[in-house]
Amino acid sequence: MSPDLTIVILAAGQGTRMRSALPKVLHPLASRPLLAHVLDSARALEPRRILIVHGHGGEHVQARFPDPEITWIHQPEQRGTGHAVRLALPATAENDSVLVLYGDVPLVRPETLARLVRSLNAGADLALMTTVLADPSGYGRILRDDQGRVLRIVEQKDATEAERHVREVNTGIMAARAGAFAGWLSQVTDDNSQGEYYLTDCVALANAEGARVEASVAHDPVEVMGINDKRQLAEQERAWQRRRVDDLMLAGVTVLDPARLDVRGRVSVSRDVTLDVNVILEGQVDLGEGAVVGAGCVIIDSSIGPGAHILPHSVIEGAVIGANARVGPFARVRPGTETAAHARIGNFVEIKNASVGEGAKINHLSYVGDADVGRDVNIGAGTITCNYDGANKHRTVIGDRAFIGSNSSLVAPLTVGEDATIGAGTTLNRDAPPGELTVARADARTIRGWKRPVRKPKT
Ligand code: UD1
Ligand code: CA
Repeated sequence: MSPDLTIVILAAGQGTRMRSALPKVLHPLASRPLLAHVLDSARALEPRRILIVHGHGGEHVQARFPDPEITWIHQPEQRGTGHAVRLALPATAENDSVLVLYGDVPLVRPETLARLVRSLNAGADLALMTTVLADPSGYGRILRDDQGRVLRIVEQKDATEAERHVREVNTGIMAARAGAFAGWLSQVTDDNSQGEYYLTDCVALANAEGARVEASVAHDPVEVMGINDKRQLAEQERAWQRRRVDDLMLAGVTVLDPARLDVRGRVSVSRDVTLDVNVILEGQVDLGEGAVVGAGCVIIDSSIGPGAHILPHSVIEGAVIGANARVGPFARVRPGTETAAHARIGNFVEIKNASVGEGAKINHLSYVGDADVGRDVNIGAGTITCNYDGANKHRTVIGDRAFIGSNSSLVAPLTVGEDATIGAGTTLNRDAPPGELTVARADARTIRGWKRPVRKPKT
């Protein structure tokens, strides 16, 4: 906990260049709003307060973050970053360290921010974060004197041709005491090409009164890149993915192509996990030792047991897959599914809210919903649990070692006893006793001498 630290996140901008009805800070990166990523970094510093300046689409933004720890500050008109910070200051104490973050700079690391706060505590009056870009266009440029001291920041739109050649840019992230910001911001004017109150003018004002301005250069420009349009959003998405994939590989995961794995949540792994191309992992995913995930699988909020094989193009959500189980290819495993060890969910099988016992096999083309399938059960191709009567869901219970013939319909609620056999094509509408064959089907008959119709000649 940093008792005198207040973090102000600027998030009122309209994000015109996104060309979207969605407020910019709600656009997803790794399936979470940009602002959520900024908040993660902010919270990691354990500040006393987090203030968010919102404006455009503010009520939607606020609704997405119902955290009582956040104080929301409304900026009805976007009159510039300096104006936004000024609105936030009354919610701070004079001696607070105020760290300003931008809602559209999502990848900044807590360690990088901590460096800025430390420089303030070590005596700087204004600490700012800069970076050096190959292409600085769009950013405010850092102007230094011969001794390398930062003099001021000039926005791209106000810069001269020579100033535009400077490649060191303002990341927008800066820190100062609340009282100091208040003093400088009361002098900032909107006399510039955009008619806005620039936060960046604080630098020249601080220098004018002999205050100590310190700039730290962020070494990884990706970390401090702002997102203004969909192209930059996609770039940042890739950068974020690269970080996650690097973490996984360092944890021992074999990733067949680091550019073709997407992590949109938190993944925990044991040794010797293999991930083939175009896998998407979302929410909380746990991968046991030696688990293999095939090409094109989507795994959401699930746990995959040790030695389990998920074959290509399977979608697994809210499920627990047991050790050494095999799922797919082309399986759809829906929430509430739990399979024991060595279970087998084959191709074109949809399964939801069901438990599948050890060694049970549902190998082809089945729908199993709201069911308890015992151990070593074999469910034939085309079997359907009719779990829904149009109003309510009902459960199907299948005892250990039962054998369900192909193309059976099990009209729930019902129980198939242990070791029972259900004949192929049966529509089962009552319980089947253990150990017996139950079958409901019309016997086939042969009509001797029957002739196929023949096509009439065209007239
Ligand atoms: C700003 C900086 C620029 C820096 C760049 C880094 C200023 C004047 N310029 O430019 O030096 O290189 O960021 O990304 O600060 N916002 C508000 N209220 C407002 C205006 C903006 O909350 O009235 C918020 C926006 O939602 C956004 C952030 O402040 O999160 C930055 O605003 P934006 O308009 O994107 O500034 P840039 O032109 O990118
Ligand atoms: Ca910006």
